[in-house]
Amino acid sequence: MSDPTELRADGDRLLARIEALGAIGAIVGADGSRGSSRLALTDEDREGRDLVVTWMRDLGLEVAIDEIGNVVGTRPGTDPTAAPVMTGSHIDTVRSGGRYDGNLGVLAGLEVVETLERHGVRTRHPIAVAFFTNEEGARFQPDMLGSLVYVGGYPLEDALDVAAVDGPRLGTELARIGYAGGVPCPAARAPHAFVELHIEQGPVLEAAGIGIGAVTGVQGISWQELTIAGQSNHAGTTPMAMRHDAGVVAAEIAVLARRLATELGGHQVATVGRLELHPNVVNVVPGQATLTVDLRNTDDDVLREAERRLRRQAEEIAAAEGTAITSRVLARFEPVEFDPLVVGLVEATAARLGHSTLRLPAGAGHDAQMLARVCPSGMVFVPSAGGVSHNPAEHTDPAELTAGADVLLQVLLSLAG
Ligand code: GLV
Ligand code: MN
Ligand code: MN
Repeated sequence: MSDPTELRADGDRLLARIEALGAIGAIVGADGSRGSSRLALTDEDREGRDLVVTWMRDLGLEVAIDEIGNVVGTRPGTDPTAAPVMTGSHIDTVRSGGRYDGNLGVLAGLEVVETLERHGVRTRHPIAVAFFTNEEGARFQPDMLGSLVYVGGYPLEDALDVAAVDGPRLGTELARIGYAGGVPCPAARAPHAFVELHIEQGPVLEAAGIGIGAVTGVQGISWQELTIAGQSNHAGTTPMAMRHDAGVVAAEIAVLARRLATELGGHQVATVGRLELHPNVVNVVPGQATLTVDLRNTDDDVLREAERRLRRQAEEIAAAEGTAITSRVLARFEPVEFDPLVVGLVEATAARLGHSTLRLPAGAGHDAQMLARVCPSGMVFVPSAGGVSHNPAEHTDPAELTAGADVLLQVLLSLAG
């Protein structure tokens, strides 16, 4: 048997799996880049799930599917009483996603298992590779729903009842694609530890010329949906002073969100990512508008201030146009700090393997932030070219992907004994 500290991932094998999974729901970006579209619990998600489950079984993992459709493949340890060291992420994507977001963490987990298998290395703790349902939150809200239910942070029955943006109930879609499993969720037993490898999805590592990020935590997330009720009317005959234009109110709120983030400064970000007008016709004043607002900050006090200001000023804008505004919370998660021992282990392991490292918070939401509620957790980041993500053009160099998998492998070995 080889010296386990000398073990390294096989980058070609990892890339081949990324390529094969990325071919499911393949899309081409405006610049010719190759991305993926596998919204949660669609036929494309099912196809992706089937492929990853096949790989898990081929590697000899014991595959368990739980009631919210999370899939966990486990490689037994030598100590039958030890809780698994878990890794993984998600394989659902946004509608116009890249090939690395989520997928890297799951497929690097499989690469870790394959490396251990090929070298005959046993660990004391089992090693589990998971992919969690609906991490993206693009089709069902909130995001990170599978991992949230897994840790007992959201009732299973409520989660199964969540409606997709295109209509169907989550539980119905889960059954339709054959992933309504029988393993009870929330999980009966917490993992010993959880470590997720992910692309940074932002510009920090690349700009600093750093290979590996030791992620310190995840910023707070606030998602809401605003609905503006105005009056549909004729675009040619309705005097400007008599309009109750829901579209104009929505547009002003989008500008307001941008201004708020600029005024608050620091880590505050704000996005209006979805906007629907009704009836959405060239010669009709919009009678209804629905839009989403995504606010995030590492400081929850400032995030709450952003929510307060947005609510107050949006109400003023709506009233001035003679429209009514209602809001619905889609997701609200406080900032999370990862376990200092795991953060330190990621940093020390990357340094031992000869990579430059930087501690940084995550800007995106991640399943690891939910697992952090029940076990020591942390994340490994690799750079994202140009900081581009949630875009088919998402890219990380093969050598950087492999470096991330190497760090994951050695961190999991340290934790699993
Ligand atoms: C999910 O990936 C998010 O951060 O929006
Ligand atoms: Mn992700
Ligand atoms: Mn994402």
